[in-house]
Amino acid sequence: MGSGDQLGVVDLRSDTVTKPGAQMRAAMAAAEVGDDVYGEDPTIRRLEETVAGLFGREAAVFVPTGTMGNQIALRLVCPPASEVLCDADAHIVTYEGGGAAQHAGIQTRTLVSIRGLLAPDAVLAQLRPITWHVVATRAVAVENTHNRGSGAVYPLATLERLRQLTEERSVLLHCDGARIWNAHVATGTPLERFGELADTLSVCLSKGLGAPVGSLVVCDADRAGEARVLRHRLGGGWRQAGILAAAGLYALEHHIGRLADDHTRARRLATTLAEAVPDICDPAAVETNIIRLDLHGTGIGAEELAGKARAEGVLVSTVDDAVRVVTHLDVDDAGCEYAAGVLRRILVDKS
Ligand SMILES: Cc1ncc(COP(=O)(O)O)c(C=O)c1O
Repeated sequence: MGSGDQLGVVDLRSDTVTKPGAQMRAAMAAAEVGDDVYGEDPTIRRLEETVAGLFGREAAVFVPTGTMGNQIALRLVCPPASEVLCDADAHIVTYEGGGAAQHAGIQTRTLVSIRGLLAPDAVLAQLRPITWHVVATRAVAVENTHNRGSGAVYPLATLERLRQLTEERSVLLHCDGARIWNAHVATGTPLERFGELADTLSVCLSKGLGAPVGSLVVCDADRAGEARVLRHRLGGGWRQAGILAAAGLYALEHHIGRLADDHTRARRLATTLAEAVPDICDPAAVETNIIRLDLHGTGIGAEELAGKARAEGVLVSTVDDAVRVVTHLDVDDAGCEYAAGVLRRILVDKS
C-alpha cells in the first residue's frame, strides 16, 4: 500500500501529501543552523548554492512555498501596471489568490493552450510593445511540468523557441518549475538547460521530491538581492530554517532519480484504467506523475468516484468535473495496483 502508511490508505490526491521519512528527519535534526535574516544559516546557504549550481545560475533564494516563489519571481520579471502572459490554466492565475494583482500590481493575460503548454506562435501574436497606448507585455510565464495539464512537459524545442522570441522582444521569461525535476527525469534534459531557458525559475522541494516545506527562486545575483527584499516584505524572512533546508538537501540527493518510478507507476495505472474504460485517459499522454480521468460518458461524476474510492481507502482529488490521480514517494507498486483495482471496479460497475 502506501509505504509508511499505518491506516492502509492509498493517498493519490497530490505529490504534496508525502511525509518525511526517518532518514530525512535525521538529516533535519542534525542540521547546523543560524539566523538566516542575518545570513547566518549555513544549511540554507548550502541549499541555495546547491540549487543555483544545479541550474547553472548565480543564485537561489530559499522561500517557504512555491506560491511565494512565483509571486516574488513575477515581481522580478514584470513591473507594476504591465502584463505577464501565461496560459489560462497556469498555477499563477488559478491557485495563487490573485497575488500578481494584489502584491505586484501586475496584469495577467491568458491564452487557452493545449495541456497548458504555450504555443510560441500564439505567444508571438500576443506580445504587446512598450508604448503609452497599450499595456506592455513584459514577461511570459511557463509552467513545467504543468499541473492542470496533467503533468505535461514542455518539449525542449518549444521552450527554446519561447526563449528566443521573448529575448528578441526584450520580454523576460519566468518558469514555474514546481515540478521541473519531473520534467528533467522524464526527458533527460539537464537542469542547467532549464536554467538557461528562463530569467527566473521557482522550483519546489515539497512536491515530488518529498521535503515537507520549501521552494527556491533561481535567478541571477542582482535579482536574488531584490528577491530577498521582496521575501522579507511578504513576511518570509527565515530564522533557523536550516532544519527545513536540510530536508531539501536530503531530497535533492536521494529523491530526484526515483521520480522515474512515479512516472512508471502513473503510466501503468493509466493503462489499467484505459484498458477497462477506453477514453478515460490516454496512457501515452501520461508523461510524468499526474493522471487526469475524463469521466464523460462513464455514468459517474468526479465527486461520486472520489467518494466511492475513499470508502475503499483510495484518495483521489477532483479538478472541475475530472478526477486527478498523482503518484509520489509515499505510494509503492502495491498501493498503485490496489488503487487501480478499486478505481477500475467502480468505473466498470458504472459503465
Ligand atoms: C505548478 C505549481 N506551482 C506552484 C505551486 C505552489 O506551491 P505551494 O503549494 O508550495 O505554494 C504548486 C502547488 O501545487 C504547483 O502545482
